Amino acid sequence: MFLRGGATLAFALLSLGTSARAQQPHDPGHVAGGAHMRAGALLMQVEAHLLAIGTMQAAIQKTMAEIKALVAPSAAVAAVAAQPAGGPQVWPLDPASSFVSAADVVQMNNGRTIRVDDVLYGYDSLFEQRHLFSAGSWLGVQLQQDPQDLVVIQQLIWDIKPKVIFDIGTNVGGSAIFFAHLMSQYAKPGEAIIVSVERPLSPTRQAKALCPKCTSVAENPLWGQYVQFVQQTSEHPDSVAALEAAIQKFGGPVVVSVDGWHEYPEVFAECKLFHKYVTNGSYMIVQDTKLDRLFNKPGPRKAAHDFLDGNSNFVIDKSKEIFLYTQHSDGYLLRVRPEAA
Ligand SMILES: *[C@@H]1O[C@H](CO)[C@@H](O)[C@H](O)[C@H]1NC(C)=O
Repeated sequence: MFLRGGATLAFALLSLGTSARAQQPHDPGHVAGGAHMRAGALLMQVEAHLLAIGTMQAAIQKTMAEIKALVAPSAAVAAVAAQPAGGPQVWPLDPASSFVSAADVVQMNNGRTIRVDDVLYGYDSLFEQRHLFSAGSWLGVQLQQDPQDLVVIQQLIWDIKPKVIFDIGTNVGGSAIFFAHLMSQYAKPGEAIIVSVERPLSPTRQAKALCPKCTSVAENPLWGQYVQFVQQTSEHPDSVAALEAAIQKFGGPVVVSVDGWHEYPEVFAECKLFHKYVTNGSYMIVQDTKLDRLFNKPGPRKAAHDFLDGNSNFVIDKSKEIFLYTQHSDGYLLRVRPEAA
């Protein structure tokens, strides 16, 4: 494009040289010859400029190609996007599904309007596809909670000040350290406890890749001071016994965090089994309810809803979704009535 414009410019200059020669009435031969040489020199300059423009154009095109490559979706993301609907999915895909009011939109001053749910679901998708769950840490220990929920859970724990937290799903230990850090600000070691349970499995390898500076949870002093680790499934008698002993010793309030195996049967069973330990006015946090639509099958969200259908002592506390973005939508379950005696 630049070169074609440049050639037009060169022709224009050539005809300018011709008309300049025609406009010299007094000393036609000498002046016209001088003008011709001058025009020739100028044309050489123009050619040099055109060459420079061409080089710059090539450089600009190369840079633009680099920019395009940077913002283009990775092969993995493209593969996810290209997945056909159907396949092994067991849940009819509902493209109109919305975790917030479907009519809620946000208008931006760039002239665009998008659905709030698309912002939230879009971020859920980013969080999974780009493995953002492995990017965070707390006191040097890897933590897979997103920053928005982290603040909300902090507020919840500070409000309730639980003596016992039943932490289902230790994984690499970040949540346990996060809970312990908060606990250490209102209870001395030996006054409150986190019972953290994890089924025997290998820790996420991705975690190590994305957080090379993260340290092992065992190196953190809070682990020894506040955390009782039980390497068992949540419903195993050892886990239940540890929880009951902790409640016996420290009393309440009790918070239960359901953040283990994120499949419907496990989450539903955990809600049924552990809700009774949650003290009145405290919470059972059913985590990662976002997964139902990301994985397109009944998961933690349906488990929470089904649990609530059969238990009117708990309600969804929507005030915990104050930042709009949450990975636990409909999962902050508040006990509003004690267990019937
Ligand atoms: C139970 O907790 C709810 C919510 O905090 C509160 O409104 C209610 O008064 C409590 N009930 C009892 C019996 O403590």
